[in-house]
Amino acid sequence: MAFLSLDVADRLAWLTIQRPEKLNALNNDVLKELEQAFADLEQDDRVGAVIVTGAGEKAFVAGADIAELKRLDSASARVQALRGQTVFQRIEAMSKPVIAAVNGFALGGGCELALACHIRVASENARFGLPEVSLGIIPGYGGTQRLPRLVGKGVALDLILSAEMLTAADALRAGLVSRVFPQADLKAGVEKLARTILSRGPLALRSALAAVHQGLEMPQDQGLQYEAALFGLLAATQDMQEGMGAFMEKRAAQFKGL
Ligand code: COA
Repeated sequence: MAFLSLDVADRLAWLTIQRPEKLNALNNDVLKELEQAFADLEQDDRVGAVIVTGAGEKAFVAGADIAELKRLDSASARVQALRGQTVFQRIEAMSKPVIAAVNGFALGGGCELALACHIRVASENARFGLPEVSLGIIPGYGGTQRLPRLVGKGVALDLILSAEMLTAADALRAGLVSRVFPQADLKAGVEKLARTILSRGPLALRSALAAVHQGLEMPQDQGLQYEAALFGLLAATQDMQEGMGAFMEKRAAQFKGL
């Protein structure tokens, strides 16, 4: 991979977008590599959770590559949006937790990439925004759909229509991120969060992700049925016996994913 680096240690994968001279902007090569990397990570039994971040001190991802976008015509722009959406849907549909460690600018496609991850944490210097209308376009990699679902229509439209950036503190207040760390502590903070998640039952994590992700697309009564079905399936697992047995015996659970 030319634009991504992958480090896997003890079931945790760090996937870093490596294009710092362009603030990690997402050109088509980066998108292609992201798609392949997530397809591989889904299949990789050594990996239980993924952290996505950007190389360098300044940016998570400063957007889709404007130099590439400028060349698009109407038909190819639609295809481009669908392509980016497909990659980000792949990320959102991952059966393993995916955390965005937002270490700087998360603009346009970068903000949309973070939105497709299951959890977003940020460093204090992070900045979030969907500046597309300042370029004469709209967010095309899911931003108009995922942002209002996450933070509500009013805040989403404020961000989308003004094209202004939010600080990490404002993003926390808006519910766009769930934790903020001083810049120097981001790596350790997100690693600790990921390790905590990895200590939980892997089948339960997978079911919780499915319940929330699929459930939000259903009417609530169907979502509740789906939740109950998954709850029932988990009751047949060794992990449930282990988790509850460990609680009764006042020891840490040793989950096997069985
Ligand atoms: N696409 C392509 N190149 C980008 C880019 C993007 N989205 N964002 C940054 N870059 C490039 C710049 O063109 C510059 O390249 P150069 O050194 O060859 O000129 C390099 O990354 C550094 O960016 P620069 O603008 O010089 O940094 P800055 O600190 O002055 O500003 C930003 C940082 C993030 C405010 C500014 O880069 C920016 O506004 N980027 C575009 C954000 C955007 O609109 N994204 C949505 C795209 S749909």
